[in-house]
Amino acid sequence: MAITWKEAERRLDIAAELLDKTDRCIVEGPLHAGIDLGTADVVLMVLNANGEPVAAFLEWAEVVRDGIVVDFIGAVDIVCRLLEKAANRLNREISQAATSFPPGTDHRLSTNILERAGLDVVAVRDEPCCVAQLLQLDKAAVVDIGGGTTGTAVVQNGNIVFSDDEPSGGRHIGLSIAGHFDISFEEAEKRKRQPERYGILDLARPTLQRISDIVARHIKGHAVEKIILTGGTCCLPGIEDVFMHELGLPVQLPNQPLLLTPLAIASLSLNKI
Ligand SMILES: Nc1ncnc2c1ncn2[C@@H]1O[C@H](COP(=O)(O)OP(=O)(O)OP(=O)(O)O)[C@@H](O)[C@H]1O
Ligand SMILES: [Mg+2]
Repeated sequence: MAITWKEAERRLDIAAELLDKTDRCIVEGPLHAGIDLGTADVVLMVLNANGEPVAAFLEWAEVVRDGIVVDFIGAVDIVCRLLEKAANRLNREISQAATSFPPGTDHRLSTNILERAGLDVVAVRDEPCCVAQLLQLDKAAVVDIGGGTTGTAVVQNGNIVFSDDEPSGGRHIGLSIAGHFDISFEEAEKRKRQPERYGILDLARPTLQRISDIVARHIKGHAVEKIILTGGTCCLPGIEDVFMHELGLPVQLPNQPLLLTPLAIASLSLNKI
């Protein structure tokens, strides 16, 4: 069932608070797990029966890229590690999980990894559609700007009428920063987290304008009155103004952009069990 924006932000605050926390936590009732296999990181989020996060673990890793698994065994190892952390925290095994995939790619990209990690896959949907399904939306577009890709889902009266994805994201901003300062990509990623000191928004602007052109193409011909941003790239302060200006539409940015897609994936199975 869809939730309000306020409730989504409340759950995101809980998730941010417990991210990578290993201390024990006793949860009664069913658990709902979701695994986001991104191009920049892998996130496991576990919810209780009310849809509130009770465990969340993130590992930065480049195991998939633009809808292709570049390191299958590495991806399985990470998923197993994250599951073990969650099992230790919750004192319970996680035997099933939901997952997602970039729109327009084969969902087996993700489900094969979960199955190899010993999980039953209870639900699978493309990334922006997961977020679109979680929130109560009408005449809106969810735009998920991750590390390697930007995915768009258009929602009319709660129904997803379009989704697509293109290979442009935070990685390209990292490359611009690396080129500008003549530094490594890893160093550029560090500077990206100090946006004011290094004038990151200005360096990111050409990439963000290119991404907003992609979004404009995705939403063309659909009744869209609002943009919902998600994905780690949207942690960059000032990003909503760039999209508001470029697209001429109001933009809603969640309090924890990095965690909204994982929360939405974990929520996929809430009404299923
Ligand atoms: N504080 C921050 N400021 C700017 N960018 C950030 C910040 N935190 C994370 N990022 C960027 O967010 C991106 C990762 O976001 P996310 O976890 O949504 O991607 P992903 O799901 O792994 O990738 P994709 O959805 O493309 O497969 C990286 O490019 C990272 O540099
Ligand atoms: Mg993603």
